[in-house]
Amino acid sequence: MLSALGSLAAALWAGFHLRSLLLGAVAFLFTADFLKRRRPKNYPPGPPWLPFVGNFFQLGFKQQHLQLQPSHGTKILEPFFPSGETGRVVSGTKLVKKYGNLLSLEFGDFPLVIVTGLPLIKEVLVHQEQNFMNRPMAPIQEYTFKKDGLIMSSGQTWKEQRRFALSTLRNFGLGKKSLEERIQEEAYHLTEAIEEEKGQPFDPHFKINNAVSNVICSITFGKRFEYQDIQFQELLKLLDEITYIEASMQCQLYNLFPRIMKFLPGSHQTLFRKWEKLKLFVSRIIEEHKRDWNPDESRDFIDAYLKEIAKNSGSASSGFREENLICSTLDLLLAGTETTSTTLRWALLYLAINPEIQEKVQAEIDREIGSSQQPSIADRERLPYTNAVIHEVHRMGNILPLNVPREVVADTTVAGYYLPKGTMIVTNLTALHRDPAEWATPDTFNPEHFLENGQFKKRESFLPFSIGKRACLGEQLARSELFIFFTSLMQKFTFRPPDNEKLSLEFRMGITISPVKHRLCAVPRG
Ligand code: HEM
Ligand SMILES: *[C@@H]1O[C@H](CO)[C@@H](O)[C@H](O)[C@H]1NC(C)=O
Repeated sequence: MLSALGSLAAALWAGFHLRSLLLGAVAFLFTADFLKRRRPKNYPPGPPWLPFVGNFFQLGFKQQHLQLQPSHGTKILEPFFPSGETGRVVSGTKLVKKYGNLLSLEFGDFPLVIVTGLPLIKEVLVHQEQNFMNRPMAPIQEYTFKKDGLIMSSGQTWKEQRRFALSTLRNFGLGKKSLEERIQEEAYHLTEAIEEEKGQPFDPHFKINNAVSNVICSITFGKRFEYQDIQFQELLKLLDEITYIEASMQCQLYNLFPRIMKFLPGSHQTLFRKWEKLKLFVSRIIEEHKRDWNPDESRDFIDAYLKEIAKNSGSASSGFREENLICSTLDLLLAGTETTSTTLRWALLYLAINPEIQEKVQAEIDREIGSSQQPSIADRERLPYTNAVIHEVHRMGNILPLNVPREVVADTTVAGYYLPKGTMIVTNLTALHRDPAEWATPDTFNPEHFLENGQFKKRESFLPFSIGKRACLGEQLARSELFIFFTSLMQKFTFRPPDNEKLSLEFRMGITISPVKHRLCAVPRG
């Protein structure tokens, strides 16, 4: 009897113990989460967040949280914050109105501050740039990019890699062929390939991707690839897939719970597999380079890098290692293909939808260059309208709506608010590019935004390549490519929608905003 009571008591005790242990553990986790997220005095204000997940569900699963709201026949980018269960949509504009131009959110584990408006964006990216030079590292990037390369690196590695890439890019014009000649040559191949379509409907996506990527390949690998090359088509598909898988829900969940998601199936696993394939492609090309490498004559970026590795081989602190070579090469390929090709696709789409603007561009090209001479960068001065159209494509295409995130390097103060080291900083380029106070018709494609008395007019509230020392490394290259490709295509073809098909400005959300799958007719000009 007594022993029975005893074991009952023991069982009760054990049960009680377990429950209180669990309760205690939960309380501990909540407290730890709360303490971890406790923000210092003068931290920028923001909406309330949930334990463990922060504002994750309000941010929506799509990383860039953008939603299409067709209105007046134009597309309006309205990033949204649907709260998971209720489907209530809270717009970012409203949050900015309520909390101000420095707005704090909790992105999973990351404290995140959104910067709105030109004065504060310049404060962060230019005047105080030293304090905002790092990149935050989400678990998914930690897995793929590591801390190597150009885009995701920070500190000393970034400085070294960036300086080297910039100077090498500048020298390429390498050897015999200038960069401009490489682009012109590729533009020629592109027009040939499009001519083969004979004015019939076709999807311009991969031909354009191929042409744009070839410019980077010619710089990094020392060669271009034929548009029929099956292996290269596979590489381009990989690049394209990677850029939108990263925005998937599973990848975002991986960012939130990497230790759990690591063991679960999903698109994050696909991403990792594709990433490995991509690396393999690049390391094979590097091996080929090593075989016939001549240190006295660098043919391309990889050769120049191998030379740098050899030069620094004694120094343990040097970032010039083979992993960094693979990553920097991949970064150039990733950053240099998708962005420029997406912008060019937006350009053709906008002009097919706006035939009167296309006619004006063609008239200017016919007048200033004629129909047979190949356009060159020097022609840009004489083509203000065409130049304005390209700028307007950047503005409306708005392919990186929230720029590329930065991270605070050392505790600092902006506009009276305290930003501790490690805070993730997002600058809202959409707000800048669609600011009704800055643009006459913010949501309509209108090249007049960049014209004054028929001359090209620069605009301050226009930062598609960002600004400051960590702005886009490929801006000059991208601008040259876009100008030469675009004018070459306009010189040779008129782009229009296929009969009985309506073109849409809907977009696909990935790392960039890109047009949804569509077809165009490229009618040869007489
Ligand atoms: C339409 C074309 C392009 C656009 C709109 C664009 C835009 C951007 C933006 C907004 C950033 C982030 C800058 C920042 O953090 O402040 C960036 C970074 C970068 N871009 Fe581009 N880009 C384009 C083309 C290119 C091309 C052709 C290359 C090839 C060389 C390139 C290479 C890079 C690299 C390596 C970075 C990382 C720089 C760093 O972290 O230091 N981009 N780009
Ligand atoms: C960025 O600005 C746009 C335009 O004002 C706004 O709709 C959007 O919600 C903002 N996004 C964020 C994340 O604040």
